[in-house]
Amino acid sequence: MIQRLALLCVFSALLSACGSKPAGLEPVTLTDAQNKLFENSCKNCHVQAGNPAPQMGDQAAWEPRVAKGLEALVKNAITGINQMPAGGMCITCTPQDYEALIRHMAAPAVQGK
Ligand code: HEC
Repeated sequence: MIQRLALLCVFSALLSACGSKPAGLEPVTLTDAQNKLFENSCKNCHVQAGNPAPQMGDQAAWEPRVAKGLEALVKNAITGINQMPAGGMCITCTPQDYEALIRHMAAPAVQGK
């Protein structure tokens, strides 16, 4: 039992260490539904040269934003920020969808897609 507890501690310490990174930039695989959400909303501005939105995979544009932390980005996506409309014109997106969509756009691995 004590061993188990110790393991749990190690595990949660690891978890919180991950959580304290500025943001998880690991790319995600969007679900089919999330892909549709992306096509119908975010993509119209975030994959649109000349748009003031940070473009998908553009590290220079995303870096200072990612530094705010993923949680702050999700919140700003939901409430809107400057020229980014509240919710990014996605009425059905859940906070989990926003998180996935943001990772999708901010991750360097998906650049150019
Ligand atoms: C109508 C155009 C438009 C759409 C649609 C849109 N965005 Fe944006 N988005 C912007 C613009 C413009 C900015 C830059 C705002 C600024 O000046 O900081 C932005 C910024 C952001 C940021 C950075 C926020 C920050 O705190 O710096 C996130 C995250 C984001 N968008 C997520 C999304 C997601 C997710 C979607 C789709 C659900 C989406 N956006 C759809 C225009 C759009």
